[in-house]
Amino acid sequence: MKKISLPLLTLATALAVVLSISSLAHAQDAQATYKSKCAMCHGVDGKKIAAHDLSSADVQKKSDADLAAIIAEGMPPRMPEFGDKLKPEEIKGLVAYIRTLK
Ligand code: HEC
Repeated sequence: MKKISLPLLTLATALAVVLSISSLAHAQDAQATYKSKCAMCHGVDGKKIAAHDLSSADVQKKSDADLAAIIAEGMPPRMPEFGDKLKPEEIKGLVAYIRTLK
């Protein structure tokens, strides 16, 4: 029993480490995408457009799907659409990043 469980445990630990590193890498990717594509309008902290403060309760109460749709399709008149510039995973990452601003 011990002979099997030790390698399994090692494998599970290794997998957990790899997964946590990759989710950390994704979070950093999303932050870099936000900084290069969004921060010039919304500010690094999301507060620069006061009426559409990304850290505000008004924006945070929207669902992930709503936020993803706004990012993909834009919001008239000034918010550009990013559906053709960003992959769905990147948009998902940006939604997760917006959640960190609250
Ligand atoms: C050219 C400036 C500009 C850029 C670039 C931009 N936005 Fe916006 N965004 C706006 C404006 C302005 C609004 C509010 C709608 C309007 O007045 O046009 C808005 C609205 C939003 C909203 C909805 C806020 C609400 O009140 O419901 C979200 C979410 C959002 N932007 C996220 C993003 C993300 C994520 C990016 C980067 C991929 C981004 N925006 C890039 C200007 C911009």
